[in-house]
Amino acid sequence: MTLESAPESSLPTNENPLAETALSTGSEWWRSAVIYQIYPRSFADGNGDGIGDLAGIRERLPALADLGVDAIWLSPFFTSPQNDAGYDVADYCDVDPLFGTLDDFDQLEREAHRLDLRVIVDLVPNHTSDQHAWFIEALAAPEGSAERGRYIFRDGQGDSGELPPNNWESVFGGAAWTRTTNADGTPGQWFLHLFDSSQPDLDWSNPWVREQFREILRFWLRRGVDGFRVDVAHGLIKADGLPDVNLPSGEEEDSPGGSMNQAVDVPYWAQAGVHEIYRDWHLVLEEFEGDRVLCAEAWVEPLAKLADWVRPDEMHQAFNFSYLETPWSAPAIRSVVDESISAFHGVNAPSTWVLSNHDVIRHSTRLAMSPPPPQGTGVGPRDEPKPNEALGLQRARAASLLMLALPGSSYVYQGEELGLPEAMELPDDARQDPTFFRHAGEKYGRDGCRVPIPWEAEAPSYGFSTTGSSWLPQPGDWAQYARDSQTGIPGSTLELYTLALQLRREYGFGLGSLEWLDTYGDDVVAFTNGDVTVIANTGPVAVELPAGDILVSSEPLTEAALPADTTVWLIAR
Ligand code: BGC
Repeated sequence: MTLESAPESSLPTNENPLAETALSTGSEWWRSAVIYQIYPRSFADGNGDGIGDLAGIRERLPALADLGVDAIWLSPFFTSPQNDAGYDVADYCDVDPLFGTLDDFDQLEREAHRLDLRVIVDLVPNHTSDQHAWFIEALAAPEGSAERGRYIFRDGQGDSGELPPNNWESVFGGAAWTRTTNADGTPGQWFLHLFDSSQPDLDWSNPWVREQFREILRFWLRRGVDGFRVDVAHGLIKADGLPDVNLPSGEEEDSPGGSMNQAVDVPYWAQAGVHEIYRDWHLVLEEFEGDRVLCAEAWVEPLAKLADWVRPDEMHQAFNFSYLETPWSAPAIRSVVDESISAFHGVNAPSTWVLSNHDVIRHSTRLAMSPPPPQGTGVGPRDEPKPNEALGLQRARAASLLMLALPGSSYVYQGEELGLPEAMELPDDARQDPTFFRHAGEKYGRDGCRVPIPWEAEAPSYGFSTTGSSWLPQPGDWAQYARDSQTGIPGSTLELYTLALQLRREYGFGLGSLEWLDTYGDDVVAFTNGDVTVIANTGPVAVELPAGDILVSSEPLTEAALPADTTVWLIAR
């Protein structure tokens, strides 16, 4: 293991004794893992301030071991002004006091490893916070300085530079450029921010930036983390010359529209140069013992292109957002599953599957919306008609049971194992997502999937915080979803997930292989994974089941038929 530190780097080095606690059994555990996403501010509050923290997470880890997941991924808990809930990092190598200390992180990691749970942390390399020392120094330094070269500063267009350097739009709404003010009060250069104006984009063509991130990776690897989820992994490299986004002809007056998704070609998503960065990071991970993983958050289509992120010398996994965005419709599901398996297997990577995360409408609400609004839009009090909660939950349970039967690795977002719906009635004055503000309230944004989760039906804030405080208000009818209302109750969503995860492990689904069964009609997804037959009915009419022993079903089965919006696993006779 080589541990070189960059001569230029000012990052703290840390020979952490806890590195030995890393689970080091190798075996490419991530190929079949179920990875549970913890959104720290909304998981469990250990100090009563209404914002979840690392101590709260540590205390609740046994519940995740009981659920039967293999790993946890922690969304950012690093030093941050929290303008984008921590995805605006001011110090990559420290913990924000809101969430605790580095010592709290070490204790959490040690406890997770003791419970056989791997620990993945979130790395945010596309941008920093404007409160990061690198950006503060860049703003104070003259145009053309090395400090400014860490970010993407440019002169404006127009006679006096009053127009932004190009027509790029922020994903959160509005222009992707903000103009600076010089020390003498005159208007200065502009800087690029694909997200909020408090999240300036780094310039990844600068070797200094690359070296800083190698050291950040090593800092957390030395602490014993099992991997990184890499934020905006399709955005780090921008096309040379920062050309305008080309609008389809006739739409020149329209806004080019910011979106995470590289569905159309834009000069900042999915540029070929990003791959060199991940090849470099792959080597950094190999400096360390154990089996560490890089997971790409890359909204790239088609899947055949996304597969480039997980070639053998790059990352290990990429989130399958094509799967997440697939409607509850058997033909669409069959086709995305086929496409995923073929694309990922083509580069010897596992397929991944995901239905919910902290950026999208929870699938127990989304699957009752037709069509769901684009990612980031959210859903709120003024939207009509309201999605049907019971239908959404039934479909979500069926969709989750289908997902957990697929070969490869699956992601579960905190609260989906409880069947939590999107919190749709949040008042405007409670909202915190920059999307809401940058769209002047026209888009609700992502707060509805980030509401603190319920643990105990009868406790203040449903047991999220001992003081009953909660940074986003929790709906009044969530007692029914609380973990303790579901524990040990046959058929509850929590018991459904727990049983499914146990069976998934027992039957080796993660490393299994899928064979389609095509005798059930168009509205049905049916396949075998090893000895188990999986049948999901997305249509309105019940379908006849084959003779067999039922292992688990997403709804109670009263006869030898599979009702609408239901999935079953069985051993056929
Ligand atoms: C994260 C978002 C975040 C954005 C900017 C994403 O894709 O998942 O929550 O707002 O990156 O960092």
